[in-house]
Amino acid sequence: MTKAVLGIIGGSGIYDLPGLENVHEEAIASPWGEPSAPLRRGEMAGLPIVFLPRHGPGHALSPSDINYRANIDVLKRAGVTDLVALSACGSFKEELPPGTFVLVDQFVDRTHKRESSFFGKGCVAHVSMAHPVSPLLAKHLAAAAEAERIAFARGGTYLCMEGPQFSSLAESLTYKAQGYSVIGMTNMPEAKLAREAEICYASVAMVTDFDCWHPAHDAVTVQDIIRVLNSNAEKAKALVARLARDFPREHEPCPIGTDCALDTALITAPTA
Ligand code: ADE
Repeated sequence: MTKAVLGIIGGSGIYDLPGLENVHEEAIASPWGEPSAPLRRGEMAGLPIVFLPRHGPGHALSPSDINYRANIDVLKRAGVTDLVALSACGSFKEELPPGTFVLVDQFVDRTHKRESSFFGKGCVAHVSMAHPVSPLLAKHLAAAAEAERIAFARGGTYLCMEGPQFSSLAESLTYKAQGYSVIGMTNMPEAKLAREAEICYASVAMVTDFDCWHPAHDAVTVQDIIRVLNSNAEKAKALVARLARDFPREHEPCPIGTDCALDTALITAPTA
């Protein structure tokens, strides 16, 4: 049996986890470069937690400048078995208004400037991304959201754009017409790298705005986002505290094998 270690990546507005006890900072070195910040390791209700603020101290890293490989690598080295990504997003659906938490289960990757694999040049692997989210982790998140009476939706497709600019009206209308649920700038390649690292991954996409497609809302601005961000951050902290309280202490083997994804992925012949 493997002990569960819960990783939390904090997005915009979430730069610390106030309920974390016995906290210490851990600067783990990675061959992939510098992670966004030193890890903050501690416990909640006795469960080991490792926290990483995605945008670094003072929100200095833009989505394209985040070293996603180093972030996932140090979380793996810290023993994280299950990883929850908290991220702000825009919504394409009337029924997902600002303040809603979407437990997304699919991603569309439109990023193009980011290193998105640990593999290549000498060691090639192709992991499946058919089902990018770990269903047990999503189930625990849904139970925690229910217990905390947080408005949330089960499932949805997150479109990851490169940014840092927001979408044009034509882009926003196109994504809406394609049926996507939410848009953000950071869950890719994070989810792909977590899969390659055999870490169970689930994303809580916290709606801050209606992007720009909505006829009754102005173009999205950072000021508007920040207004919703702060109340979302408070709810996210309650969600994590509840998740930690109720989370199994032994890592539950993933029913779709996200925690052993490399078993069927390596294609380079092993050297003698
Ligand atoms: N993050 C928060 N709102 C967003 C939006 N509308 N588009 C992209 N990323 C976002």
